[in-house]
Amino acid sequence: MGGTLPPVIAIDGPSASGKGTIAEAVAQRLSFHYLDSGALYRIVGLVGGERGVNLDNDLEISIISLNLKINFESGRVWVDGRDVSAQIRGEVAGAAASRVAALPGVRRALMALQRGFRQPPGLVADGRDMGSVVFPDASLKIYLTATPEERALRRHKQLMEKDSGASMAALLQDIRDRDLRDSTRAAAPLLKCADAIEIDTTGTSAKEVVEQVLHLYQKHQKTQ
Ligand code: DC
Repeated sequence: MGGTLPPVIAIDGPSASGKGTIAEAVAQRLSFHYLDSGALYRIVGLVGGERGVNLDNDLEISIISLNLKINFESGRVWVDGRDVSAQIRGEVAGAAASRVAALPGVRRALMALQRGFRQPPGLVADGRDMGSVVFPDASLKIYLTATPEERALRRHKQLMEKDSGASMAALLQDIRDRDLRDSTRAAAPLLKCADAIEIDTTGTSAKEVVEQVLHLYQKHQKTQ
């Protein structure tokens, strides 16, 4: 035993706050590994739904979570040898993810898998409980926010690129519902931990936020 564990930068925040974009870019700049923990809940929700399991059944969904073979490879996500990259981004998988993420057994089942991403030279992990539960000893904890209106607008832009005609009003409602579900559930609710640094990204470009996070990490390193 002993030795130092590779450093972790934890980036948490609500739905569509830009966590994925920022975390991936920061990981790339530092040549760190990247964990998109939301993708794991999306995969579990997707597969549970496909297998016709009740998405509120903690035991059954936990067993599925423990037995999935998940691979992230060159920007794509594979489950048991199947490329599910596009499917897990859909609204159905997103809604299913939010349900299975409320199950304590599922969260426990995914713990070891998530911690396994902590490999040299370091990890940038994004989600809801990266700093609070999965990597409480992270070197730097960031809590990203943006107003619900800005987040709905960003999602709208993303969906327009895919030719999906979701209305702004529906997206805003969906974001508000998801925020409420994610922050009021009993198991690992979305919260800003006391030692996290909050960055409000409303009206800020992704590039600026990436620079801000890198600057905070450099500052942290100097104090070590
Ligand atoms: O970040 P995302 O939209 O891909 O997350 C999908 C769902 O999974 C969302 O409802 C929140 C949940 N989630 C979670 O509970 N814990 C995480 N670490 C990541 C995501």
